[in-house]
Amino acid sequence: MSGGHIARIDRMLRPIHRWIWSNRDRRVRKLLAFAEVETDGGRDILRAAETTPDPLLRRLYLEHAIDELHHGVMFRRRGATLARLRHHASEGGNPLPGGHGLDDLAITDAGDEQLLAFLHVAEKAAAGRFAIYREIVGDDPETQAIFDHILHDEVFHMNYTYRQLARVSPRAWRRQIWRARVSRLWKRYLRLAGALGMAIGSLLLVLQYFAVLPLFAWLARRAERREPAGWSPARRPTAQTSPY
Ligand SMILES: [Fe+2]
Ligand SMILES: [Fe+2]
Repeated sequence: MSGGHIARIDRMLRPIHRWIWSNRDRRVRKLLAFAEVETDGGRDILRAAETTPDPLLRRLYLEHAIDELHHGVMFRRRGATLARLRHHASEGGNPLPGGHGLDDLAITDAGDEQLLAFLHVAEKAAAGRFAIYREIVGDDPETQAIFDHILHDEVFHMNYTYRQLARVSPRAWRRQIWRARVSRLWKRYLRLAGALGMAIGSLLLVLQYFAVLPLFAWLARRAERREPAGWSPARRPTAQTSPY
């Protein structure tokens, strides 16, 4: 398999991906953000290699972790080179979720079945994303070569996790994959809902500024027009209102 399967959602989002990658500054930020995700994912998989009781999985996790750490280095170097070329001060930030989804990875005592299912789903999504990115950065052959190399590794990760899941969980592997997909979607939904909540909050503040404040300003001006100009005599307190 030479390339990842591109999910329909990513095909629909292609114009957004194209827009993000079309700008050199955003490109640098994306590459540096990917470097973080790949390196963190590599460390987590390394931890999984230390804890698994399965010798074959230990060897595969180790190979996988080395790949991810290598991807981190490749992205970081390319991002730094582009940043230097642009005299760009490197900074964080990520306009769209990273390609890998390994940022959601948490090594727990849940066992290899759950981890393999999670990794398979994440690697499949990554392979699809990187296939799009490889296509989009056609104007930058060096970055394109990095995506090409990484895509090849991600396809290997996607396939070995699938095969190993079927080996260690011959009866429940389908259920494990569905559970991993639902969990991934749920995390994406929570992330999106959080971002949407912040966007709606900002929009309400802007509306308040442009719609509600002018209304109060108009009411204040109208009240001001009704007030007589200059000093007006204070009203003498009456017997009922006097506190004494
Ligand atoms: Fe990777
Ligand atoms: Fe990977």
